[in-house]
Amino acid sequence: MENKNISDITPEVFDLTERIYQTGVINPELYTKYQVKRGLRDISGKGVLAGLTRISDIQSFIAQGDEMVPCEGKLFYRGINIKDIVKGFIQEKRYGFEEVAYLLLVGEMPDKKELKDFTQLLAHYRTLPTSFVRDIIMKAPSQDMMNTLARSVLTLYSYDDKANDISIPNVLRQSLQLIALFPLLSVYGYQAYRHYHDGQSLFIHVPDPELSTAQNILHLLRPDSKYSELEAHILDVSLVLHAEHGGGNNSTFTTHVVSSSGTDTYSTVAASLGSLKGPKHGGANIKVVQMVEDMKKNLSDWTSESEVKDYLTKLLNKQAFDKAGLIYGMGHAVYSLSDPRADIFKSFVQNLSEEKGLSKEFQLYSLVERLAPEVIAKERKIYKGVSANVDFYSGFVYSMLKLPTELFTPIFAIARIAGWSAHRIEELSNAGKIIRPAYKNVQEERPYIPLDQRG
Ligand SMILES: CC(C)(COP(=O)(O)OP(=O)(O)OC[C@H]1O[C@@H](n2cnc3c(N)ncnc32)[C@H](O)[C@@H]1OP(=O)(O)O)[C@@H](O)C(=O)NCCC(=O)NCCS
Repeated sequence: MENKNISDITPEVFDLTERIYQTGVINPELYTKYQVKRGLRDISGKGVLAGLTRISDIQSFIAQGDEMVPCEGKLFYRGINIKDIVKGFIQEKRYGFEEVAYLLLVGEMPDKKELKDFTQLLAHYRTLPTSFVRDIIMKAPSQDMMNTLARSVLTLYSYDDKANDISIPNVLRQSLQLIALFPLLSVYGYQAYRHYHDGQSLFIHVPDPELSTAQNILHLLRPDSKYSELEAHILDVSLVLHAEHGGGNNSTFTTHVVSSSGTDTYSTVAASLGSLKGPKHGGANIKVVQMVEDMKKNLSDWTSESEVKDYLTKLLNKQAFDKAGLIYGMGHAVYSLSDPRADIFKSFVQNLSEEKGLSKEFQLYSLVERLAPEVIAKERKIYKGVSANVDFYSGFVYSMLKLPTELFTPIFAIARIAGWSAHRIEELSNAGKIIRPAYKNVQEERPYIPLDQRG
Protein backbone atom coordinates (compact mmCIF):
# COMPACT_ATOMS: atom_id res chain seq x y z
CA MET A 1 0.00 0.00 0.00
CA GLU A 2 1.37 3.39 -1.00
CA ASN A 3 1.05 6.03 1.67
CA LYS A 4 1.49 9.48 0.14
CA ASN A 5 -0.30 11.58 2.63
CA ILE A 6 -1.58 10.97 6.14
CA SER A 7 -5.09 12.07 5.05
CA ASP A 8 -5.30 9.79 1.99
CA ILE A 9 -8.26 7.40 2.14
CA THR A 10 -7.15 4.27 0.30
CA PRO A 11 -9.59 2.05 -1.69
CA GLU A 12 -9.20 -0.58 1.07
CA VAL A 13 -10.61 1.88 3.58
CA PHE A 14 -13.61 2.55 1.31
CA ASP A 15 -14.19 -1.23 1.04
CA LEU A 16 -14.10 -1.63 4.81
CA THR A 17 -16.46 1.32 5.14
CA GLU A 18 -18.99 -0.47 2.91
CA ARG A 19 -18.87 -3.47 5.29
CA ILE A 20 -19.33 -1.16 8.28
CA TYR A 21 -22.43 0.37 6.67
CA GLN A 22 -23.87 -3.16 6.43
CA THR A 23 -23.03 -4.21 10.00
CA GLY A 24 -23.02 -0.95 11.91
CA VAL A 25 -26.48 0.52 11.36
CA ILE A 26 -29.00 -0.07 14.12
CA ASN A 27 -32.69 -0.21 13.27
CA PRO A 28 -34.15 3.10 14.62
CA GLU A 29 -37.25 1.25 15.87
CA LEU A 30 -35.10 -0.58 18.42
CA TYR A 31 -34.43 2.69 20.23
CA THR A 32 -38.16 3.06 20.83
CA LYS A 33 -38.58 -0.63 21.68
CA TYR A 34 -35.91 -0.50 24.39
CA GLN A 35 -36.90 3.04 25.49
CA VAL A 36 -33.43 4.39 24.92
CA LYS A 37 -33.14 8.06 25.93
CA ARG A 38 -31.23 9.11 22.83
CA GLY A 39 -28.85 11.98 23.51
CA LEU A 40 -29.60 11.19 27.18
CA ARG A 41 -32.86 13.10 26.78
CA ASP A 42 -36.55 12.23 26.80
CA ILE A 43 -38.93 12.97 23.96
CA SER A 44 -39.62 16.53 25.19
CA GLY A 45 -35.87 17.23 25.14
CA LYS A 46 -35.48 17.07 28.94
CA GLY A 47 -32.14 15.60 29.98
CA VAL A 48 -31.81 12.42 32.02
CA LEU A 49 -30.94 13.39 35.59
CA ALA A 50 -27.23 12.54 35.91
CA GLY A 51 -26.11 14.61 38.87
CA LEU A 52 -26.64 17.53 41.23
CA THR A 53 -24.93 20.91 41.02
CA ARG A 54 -24.90 24.26 42.78
CA ILE A 55 -23.01 25.99 39.98
CA SER A 56 -25.74 27.05 37.60
CA ASP A 57 -29.34 26.56 36.58
CA ILE A 58 -31.14 26.81 33.28
CA GLN A 59 -34.88 27.31 33.26
CA SER A 60 -36.87 26.74 30.09
CA PHE A 61 -40.10 25.20 31.39
CA ILE A 62 -42.52 26.20 34.15
CA ALA A 63 -45.19 24.21 35.93
CA GLN A 64 -48.77 24.97 34.87
CA GLY A 65 -50.96 22.76 37.01
CA ASP A 66 -49.63 19.22 36.53
CA GLU A 67 -48.02 20.13 33.26
CA MET A 68 -44.64 21.64 32.44
CA VAL A 69 -44.93 24.24 29.69
CA PRO A 70 -42.15 26.06 27.77
CA CYS A 71 -41.26 29.52 29.07
CA GLU A 72 -38.74 32.28 28.26
CA GLY A 73 -35.27 30.96 29.11
CA LYS A 74 -33.47 31.99 32.30
CA LEU A 75 -29.87 31.32 33.33
CA PHE A 76 -28.52 31.57 36.88
CA TYR A 77 -24.87 31.45 37.97
CA ARG A 78 -24.71 30.21 41.58
CA GLY A 79 -28.37 31.25 41.96
CA ILE A 80 -27.96 34.78 40.55
CA ASN A 81 -29.77 35.70 37.32
CA ILE A 82 -27.26 36.29 34.51
CA LYS A 83 -29.27 39.33 33.37
CA ASP A 84 -28.74 40.96 36.80
CA ILE A 85 -25.03 40.07 36.79
CA VAL A 86 -24.48 41.69 33.37
CA LYS A 87 -26.62 44.72 34.26
CA GLY A 88 -24.61 45.10 37.49
CA PHE A 89 -21.10 45.31 36.07
CA ILE A 90 -22.19 47.28 32.99
CA GLN A 91 -23.84 49.90 35.22
CA GLU A 92 -20.73 50.02 37.38
CA LYS A 93 -18.66 50.45 34.20
CA ARG A 94 -16.26 47.59 34.93
CA TYR A 95 -15.34 44.24 33.42
CA GLY A 96 -17.31 41.19 34.56
CA PHE A 97 -15.50 38.01 33.52
CA GLU A 98 -13.09 37.85 36.48
CA GLU A 99 -15.96 38.41 38.94
CA VAL A 100 -17.95 35.63 37.26
CA ALA A 101 -14.99 33.22 37.27
CA TYR A 102 -14.63 33.86 41.02
CA LEU A 103 -18.38 33.36 41.55
CA LEU A 104 -18.40 30.07 39.63
CA LEU A 105 -15.31 28.66 41.34
CA VAL A 106 -15.82 29.92 44.88
CA GLY A 107 -19.62 30.02 45.03
CA GLU A 108 -19.98 33.60 46.29
CA MET A 109 -19.68 37.04 44.70
CA PRO A 110 -16.32 38.58 45.64
CA ASP A 111 -16.18 41.82 47.61
CA LYS A 112 -13.90 44.61 46.32
CA LYS A 113 -10.75 43.27 47.98
CA GLU A 114 -11.43 39.66 47.02
CA LEU A 115 -11.99 40.69 43.40
CA LYS A 116 -8.78 42.71 43.33
CA ASP A 117 -6.77 39.84 44.87
CA PHE A 118 -8.34 37.30 42.47
CA THR A 119 -7.59 39.47 39.42
CA GLN A 120 -3.99 39.80 40.62
CA LEU A 121 -3.80 36.03 41.11
CA LEU A 122 -4.89 35.48 37.49
CA ALA A 123 -2.28 38.05 36.34
CA HIS A 124 0.33 36.18 38.42
CA TYR A 125 -0.54 32.87 36.72
CA ARG A 126 -0.68 34.42 33.23
CA THR A 127 2.91 33.42 32.45
CA LEU A 128 3.90 30.51 30.25
CA PRO A 129 6.84 28.25 31.14
CA THR A 130 10.13 29.49 29.65
CA SER A 131 10.44 28.65 25.93
CA PHE A 132 6.89 27.21 25.74
CA VAL A 133 5.95 29.56 22.90
CA ARG A 134 9.11 28.79 20.92
CA ASP A 135 9.28 25.03 21.60
CA ILE A 136 5.59 24.09 21.58
CA ILE A 137 3.29 26.69 20.06
CA MET A 138 5.52 27.62 17.12
CA LYS A 139 6.09 23.98 16.15
CA ALA A 140 3.75 22.32 13.60
CA PRO A 141 0.98 24.93 13.95
CA SER A 142 -2.44 23.49 13.15
CA GLN A 143 -5.05 25.29 11.08
CA ASP A 144 -7.57 24.63 13.84
CA MET A 145 -6.96 26.66 16.98
CA MET A 146 -9.01 24.28 19.13
CA ASN A 147 -6.57 21.50 18.28
CA THR A 148 -3.68 23.86 18.95
CA LEU A 149 -5.20 24.76 22.30
CA ALA A 150 -5.77 21.12 23.26
CA ARG A 151 -2.20 20.22 22.29
CA SER A 152 -0.82 23.07 24.40
CA VAL A 153 -2.97 22.00 27.36
CA LEU A 154 -1.78 18.40 27.10
CA THR A 155 1.84 19.56 26.83
CA LEU A 156 1.55 21.72 29.97
CA TYR A 157 1.26 18.38 31.81
CA SER A 158 4.99 17.80 31.21
CA TYR A 159 5.87 21.15 32.78
CA ASP A 160 3.86 20.56 35.97
CA ASP A 161 5.61 18.71 38.82
CA LYS A 162 2.23 18.02 40.43
CA ALA A 163 0.35 17.20 37.21
CA ASN A 164 -1.36 14.06 38.60
CA ASP A 165 -2.26 15.50 42.00
CA ILE A 166 -6.06 15.77 42.11
CA SER A 167 -6.30 17.31 45.59
CA ILE A 168 -8.59 20.36 45.50
CA PRO A 169 -5.89 23.04 46.19
CA ASN A 170 -3.75 21.63 43.38
CA VAL A 171 -6.66 21.34 40.93
CA LEU A 172 -7.72 24.90 41.82
CA ARG A 173 -4.15 26.10 41.14
CA GLN A 174 -4.14 24.29 37.78
CA SER A 175 -7.58 25.70 36.95
CA LEU A 176 -6.53 29.28 37.72
CA GLN A 177 -3.46 28.78 35.55
CA LEU A 178 -5.55 27.50 32.66
CA ILE A 179 -8.11 30.32 33.01
CA ALA A 180 -5.22 32.80 32.96
CA LEU A 181 -3.33 31.10 30.12
CA PHE A 182 -6.10 30.24 27.64
CA PRO A 183 -6.00 33.72 25.98
CA LEU A 184 -2.23 33.37 25.42
CA LEU A 185 -2.37 29.79 24.18
CA SER A 186 -5.20 30.67 21.75
CA VAL A 187 -3.86 33.94 20.39
CA TYR A 188 -0.23 32.79 20.11
CA GLY A 189 -1.43 29.61 18.35
CA TYR A 190 -3.25 31.83 15.87
CA GLN A 191 -0.22 34.10 15.35
CA ALA A 192 1.95 31.03 14.63
CA TYR A 193 -0.60 29.73 12.13
CA ARG A 194 -0.90 33.10 10.37
CA HIS A 195 2.88 33.34 10.17
CA TYR A 196 3.70 29.83 8.96
CA HIS A 197 0.61 29.17 6.79
CA ASP A 198 -0.26 32.66 5.51
CA GLY A 199 3.19 34.24 5.54
CA GLN A 200 2.06 37.13 7.75
CA SER A 201 4.43 38.97 10.10
CA LEU A 202 4.84 37.31 13.44
CA PHE A 203 4.33 39.33 16.60
CA ILE A 204 4.03 38.05 20.16
CA HIS A 205 2.81 40.66 22.63
CA VAL A 206 3.23 39.89 26.31
CA PRO A 207 0.08 40.11 28.48
CA ASP A 208 -0.44 43.24 30.57
CA PRO A 209 -1.13 42.41 34.26
CA GLU A 210 -3.24 45.58 34.59
CA LEU A 211 -5.70 44.48 31.89
CA SER A 212 -8.83 42.34 32.16
CA THR A 213 -9.07 39.04 30.28
CA ALA A 214 -11.10 40.65 27.46
CA GLN A 215 -8.69 43.59 27.14
CA ASN A 216 -5.73 41.21 27.12
CA ILE A 217 -7.24 39.18 24.25
CA LEU A 218 -7.50 42.31 22.08
CA HIS A 219 -4.11 43.59 23.25
CA LEU A 220 -2.41 40.26 22.35
CA LEU A 221 -4.22 39.89 19.06
CA ARG A 222 -3.89 43.27 17.38
CA PRO A 223 -0.58 44.30 15.83
CA ASP A 224 -0.80 47.75 17.44
CA SER A 225 -2.51 46.41 20.62
CA LYS A 226 -5.21 49.09 20.21
CA TYR A 227 -8.92 48.61 20.89
CA SER A 228 -11.84 50.74 21.96
CA GLU A 229 -13.49 50.46 25.38
CA LEU A 230 -16.75 49.46 23.66
CA GLU A 231 -15.01 46.57 21.88
CA ALA A 232 -13.39 45.29 25.08
CA HIS A 233 -16.65 45.58 27.05
CA ILE A 234 -18.64 43.67 24.42
CA LEU A 235 -16.02 40.92 24.35
CA ASP A 236 -16.14 40.83 28.15
CA VAL A 237 -19.94 40.40 28.08
CA SER A 238 -19.47 37.56 25.61
CA LEU A 239 -16.99 35.83 27.96
CA VAL A 240 -19.47 36.21 30.83
CA LEU A 241 -22.33 34.74 28.77
CA HIS A 242 -20.25 31.76 27.63
CA ALA A 243 -18.61 31.01 30.99
CA GLU A 244 -21.05 28.37 32.22
CA HIS A 245 -24.14 26.48 31.17
CA GLY A 246 -25.02 23.71 33.60
CA GLY A 247 -23.54 20.26 34.07
CA GLY A 248 -25.32 18.66 31.12
CA ASN A 249 -23.93 20.60 28.16
CA ASN A 250 -21.71 18.37 26.06
CA SER A 251 -18.30 19.73 27.07
CA THR A 252 -19.13 20.17 30.77
CA PHE A 253 -20.61 16.69 30.93
CA THR A 254 -17.36 15.54 29.32
CA THR A 255 -15.54 17.29 32.19
CA HIS A 256 -17.67 15.31 34.68
CA VAL A 257 -17.25 12.00 32.84
CA VAL A 258 -13.48 12.32 32.49
CA SER A 259 -12.95 13.78 35.99
CA SER A 260 -14.95 10.91 37.49
CA SER A 261 -12.28 8.46 36.32
CA GLY A 262 -9.74 10.22 38.58
CA THR A 263 -7.53 11.43 35.75
CA ASP A 264 -5.46 14.65 35.72
CA THR A 265 -6.65 18.18 34.94
CA TYR A 266 -4.85 18.47 31.60
CA SER A 267 -6.36 15.25 30.20
CA THR A 268 -9.80 16.35 31.37
CA VAL A 269 -9.60 19.82 29.85
CA ALA A 270 -8.22 18.48 26.54
CA ALA A 271 -11.26 16.16 26.31
CA SER A 272 -13.64 19.04 27.03
CA LEU A 273 -11.95 21.12 24.32
CA GLY A 274 -12.51 18.29 21.85
CA SER A 275 -16.20 18.32 22.69
CA LEU A 276 -16.53 22.10 22.46
CA LYS A 277 -14.97 22.13 19.01
CA GLY A 278 -17.95 20.30 17.48
CA PRO A 279 -20.26 22.33 15.19
CA LYS A 280 -23.29 21.23 17.22
CA HIS A 281 -21.69 22.81 20.29
CA GLY A 282 -19.09 25.61 20.36
CA GLY A 283 -18.23 25.43 16.67
CA ALA A 284 -21.67 26.76 15.69
CA ASN A 285 -20.76 30.46 15.77
CA ILE A 286 -18.29 30.13 12.88
CA LYS A 287 -20.92 28.24 10.93
CA VAL A 288 -23.45 31.03 11.54
CA VAL A 289 -21.16 33.65 10.02
CA GLN A 290 -20.31 31.41 7.05
CA MET A 291 -23.99 30.58 6.56
CA VAL A 292 -24.99 34.27 6.53
CA GLU A 293 -22.14 35.08 4.12
CA ASP A 294 -23.44 32.32 1.86
CA MET A 295 -26.94 33.81 2.07
CA LYS A 296 -25.63 37.25 1.14
CA LYS A 297 -23.97 35.73 -1.90
CA ASN A 298 -26.99 33.75 -3.02
CA LEU A 299 -29.95 36.02 -2.27
CA SER A 300 -30.75 38.83 -4.69
CA ASP A 301 -32.76 40.70 -2.02
CA TRP A 302 -31.76 40.20 1.65
CA THR A 303 -34.91 41.90 2.84
CA SER A 304 -37.26 39.57 0.95
CA GLU A 305 -39.07 37.26 3.40
CA SER A 306 -39.87 34.73 0.69
CA GLU A 307 -36.26 34.55 -0.57
CA VAL A 308 -34.91 34.12 2.96
CA LYS A 309 -37.56 31.48 3.73
CA ASP A 310 -36.69 29.55 0.56
CA TYR A 311 -33.01 29.59 1.45
CA LEU A 312 -33.74 28.38 5.01
CA THR A 313 -35.88 25.55 3.65
CA LYS A 314 -33.04 24.59 1.32
CA LEU A 315 -30.68 24.52 4.32
CA LEU A 316 -32.94 22.07 6.13
CA ASN A 317 -33.27 19.93 3.00
CA LYS A 318 -29.48 19.73 2.67
CA GLN A 319 -29.56 21.70 -0.57
CA ALA A 320 -27.64 24.80 0.52
CA PHE A 321 -24.46 25.91 2.30
CA ASP A 322 -22.67 22.92 3.95
CA LYS A 323 -25.58 20.55 3.19
CA ALA A 324 -25.67 19.39 6.82
CA GLY A 325 -29.42 20.08 7.13
CA LEU A 326 -28.93 22.60 9.95
CA ILE A 327 -29.78 26.25 10.39
CA TYR A 328 -26.86 27.24 12.58
CA GLY A 329 -27.44 29.43 15.61
CA MET A 330 -31.01 28.17 15.95
CA GLY A 331 -32.34 25.70 18.46
CA HIS A 332 -31.00 24.46 21.73
CA ALA A 333 -31.04 21.21 23.63
CA VAL A 334 -32.65 22.90 26.67
CA TYR A 335 -34.08 26.32 25.75
CA SER A 336 -37.34 26.58 23.89
CA LEU A 337 -38.96 30.04 23.58
CA SER A 338 -35.74 31.99 24.08
CA ASP A 339 -32.09 31.77 25.11
CA PRO A 340 -31.44 34.60 27.61
CA ARG A 341 -27.82 34.86 26.44
CA ALA A 342 -28.97 35.58 22.88
CA ASP A 343 -31.39 38.23 24.22
CA ILE A 344 -28.62 40.00 26.17
CA PHE A 345 -26.27 39.81 23.21
CA LYS A 346 -28.85 41.16 20.80
CA SER A 347 -29.20 44.37 22.81
CA PHE A 348 -25.47 45.06 22.25
CA VAL A 349 -25.39 43.81 18.66
CA GLN A 350 -27.82 46.39 17.33
CA ASN A 351 -25.78 49.34 18.72
CA LEU A 352 -22.50 47.89 17.54
CA SER A 353 -23.84 47.15 14.04
CA GLU A 354 -25.07 50.74 13.71
CA GLU A 355 -21.68 52.04 14.85
CA LYS A 356 -19.89 49.81 12.32
CA GLY A 357 -22.28 50.68 9.47
CA LEU A 358 -23.65 47.13 9.32
CA SER A 359 -27.35 47.79 9.98
CA LYS A 360 -28.32 45.96 6.80
CA GLU A 361 -26.57 42.81 8.02
CA PHE A 362 -28.30 43.21 11.39
CA GLN A 363 -31.69 43.33 9.59
CA LEU A 364 -30.82 40.08 7.79
CA TYR A 365 -29.87 38.39 11.09
CA SER A 366 -33.15 39.61 12.62
CA LEU A 367 -35.12 38.26 9.67
CA VAL A 368 -33.46 34.84 9.93
CA GLU A 369 -34.09 34.86 13.69
CA ARG A 370 -37.81 35.49 13.05
CA LEU A 371 -38.32 33.09 10.13
CA ALA A 372 -36.10 30.12 11.06
CA PRO A 373 -38.26 28.76 13.95
CA GLU A 374 -41.26 28.68 11.60
CA VAL A 375 -39.32 26.86 8.88
CA ILE A 376 -37.75 24.35 11.31
CA ALA A 377 -41.15 23.62 12.89
CA LYS A 378 -42.52 22.88 9.41
CA GLU A 379 -39.69 20.55 8.40
CA ARG A 380 -38.81 18.80 11.69
CA LYS A 381 -40.62 17.29 14.68
CA ILE A 382 -40.41 20.00 17.32
CA TYR A 383 -41.66 19.30 20.84
CA LYS A 384 -40.47 22.31 22.73
CA GLY A 385 -40.00 25.21 20.29
CA VAL A 386 -36.87 26.59 18.65
CA SER A 387 -35.32 30.03 19.02
CA ALA A 388 -32.00 31.80 18.37
CA ASN A 389 -29.20 30.56 20.63
CA VAL A 390 -26.17 32.49 21.94
CA ASP A 391 -24.06 31.52 18.93
CA PHE A 392 -26.45 33.16 16.50
CA TYR A 393 -25.23 36.60 17.50
CA SER A 394 -21.79 35.84 18.94
CA GLY A 395 -20.27 35.11 15.53
CA PHE A 396 -21.70 38.38 14.16
CA VAL A 397 -20.30 40.29 17.14
CA TYR A 398 -16.87 38.71 16.72
CA SER A 399 -16.77 39.55 13.03
CA MET A 400 -17.69 43.16 13.85
CA LEU A 401 -14.82 43.17 16.35
CA LYS A 402 -12.64 41.91 13.47
CA LEU A 403 -11.70 38.79 15.41
CA PRO A 404 -10.52 36.06 13.03
CA THR A 405 -12.98 33.18 12.61
CA GLU A 406 -10.22 30.79 13.71
CA LEU A 407 -10.52 32.28 17.20
CA PHE A 408 -14.33 32.19 17.55
CA THR A 409 -14.46 28.81 19.28
CA PRO A 410 -11.25 29.35 21.32
CA ILE A 411 -12.93 32.49 22.72
CA PHE A 412 -15.81 30.27 23.83
CA ALA A 413 -13.18 28.02 25.45
CA ILE A 414 -11.44 30.99 27.14
CA ALA A 415 -14.78 31.67 28.83
CA ARG A 416 -16.00 28.10 29.43
CA ILE A 417 -12.79 26.95 31.13
CA ALA A 418 -14.18 28.81 34.17
CA GLY A 419 -17.33 26.66 34.17
CA TRP A 420 -15.44 23.43 33.42
CA SER A 421 -13.08 24.15 36.32
CA ALA A 422 -15.95 24.78 38.73
CA HIS A 423 -17.61 21.52 37.66
CA ARG A 424 -14.37 19.52 37.88
CA ILE A 425 -13.83 20.78 41.41
CA GLU A 426 -17.48 20.02 42.30
CA GLU A 427 -17.12 16.48 40.88
CA LEU A 428 -13.90 15.86 42.82
CA SER A 429 -15.16 17.50 46.04
CA ASN A 430 -18.16 15.20 46.09
CA ALA A 431 -16.06 12.12 45.34
CA GLY A 432 -18.63 10.91 42.81
CA LYS A 433 -18.77 7.39 41.41
CA ILE A 434 -17.15 6.80 38.05
CA ILE A 435 -19.77 7.72 35.41
CA ARG A 436 -20.86 4.64 33.53
CA PRO A 437 -24.27 4.50 31.84
CA ALA A 438 -25.51 1.40 30.00
CA TYR A 439 -25.74 0.40 26.31
CA LYS A 440 -28.09 -2.45 25.44
CA ASN A 441 -26.56 -5.02 23.13
CA VAL A 442 -28.74 -5.68 20.06
CA GLN A 443 -26.33 -8.05 18.30
CA GLU A 444 -27.38 -11.70 18.58
CA GLU A 445 -24.76 -14.23 19.72
CA ARG A 446 -22.88 -16.14 17.00
CA PRO A 447 -20.34 -18.99 17.02
CA TYR A 448 -16.65 -18.26 16.44
CA ILE A 449 -15.60 -19.59 12.99
CA PRO A 450 -11.95 -20.57 12.47
CA LEU A 451 -10.11 -18.42 9.92
CA ASP A 452 -9.79 -21.06 7.16
CA GLN A 453 -13.57 -21.77 7.26
CA ARG A 454 -14.70 -18.11 6.73
CA GLY A 455 -15.67 -16.38 3.49
C1 LIG B 1 -28.43 22.59 19.31
C2 LIG B 1 -29.14 21.41 18.67
C3 LIG B 1 -28.11 20.30 18.42
C4 LIG B 1 -30.23 20.91 19.61
O1 LIG B 1 -30.88 19.86 18.97
P1 LIG B 1 -31.97 19.02 19.74
O2 LIG B 1 -31.54 18.88 21.16
O3 LIG B 1 -32.24 17.79 18.97
O4 LIG B 1 -33.20 20.05 19.76
P2 LIG B 1 -34.73 19.75 19.60
O5 LIG B 1 -35.12 18.55 20.41
O6 LIG B 1 -35.48 21.01 19.85
O7 LIG B 1 -34.83 19.39 18.04
C5 LIG B 1 -35.93 18.74 17.49
C6 LIG B 1 -35.63 18.45 16.05
O8 LIG B 1 -35.38 19.67 15.34
C7 LIG B 1 -34.11 19.64 14.74
N1 LIG B 1 -33.50 20.95 14.86
C8 LIG B 1 -33.39 21.72 15.96
N2 LIG B 1 -32.69 22.83 15.67
C9 LIG B 1 -32.36 22.75 14.37
C10 LIG B 1 -31.64 23.58 13.51
N3 LIG B 1 -31.09 24.70 13.92
N4 LIG B 1 -31.50 23.21 12.23
C11 LIG B 1 -32.04 22.04 11.78
N5 LIG B 1 -32.72 21.20 12.55
C12 LIG B 1 -32.88 21.56 13.85
C13 LIG B 1 -33.31 18.63 15.55
O9 LIG B 1 -32.24 18.08 14.80
C14 LIG B 1 -34.37 17.60 15.86
O10 LIG B 1 -34.60 16.82 14.71
P3 LIG B 1 -34.52 15.21 14.79
O11 LIG B 1 -35.52 14.82 15.83
O12 LIG B 1 -34.83 14.81 13.40
O13 LIG B 1 -33.10 14.90 15.21
C15 LIG B 1 -29.83 21.81 17.35
O14 LIG B 1 -30.77 22.82 17.62
C16 LIG B 1 -28.83 22.28 16.31
O15 LIG B 1 -28.15 21.45 15.68
N6 LIG B 1 -28.72 23.62 16.10
C17 LIG B 1 -27.80 24.14 15.12
C18 LIG B 1 -26.39 24.17 15.65
C19 LIG B 1 -26.23 25.22 16.74
O16 LIG B 1 -26.61 26.36 16.57
N7 LIG B 1 -25.62 24.81 17.88
C20 LIG B 1 -25.33 25.72 18.98
C21 LIG B 1 -26.04 25.32 20.22
S1 LIG B 1 -25.77 26.51 21.50
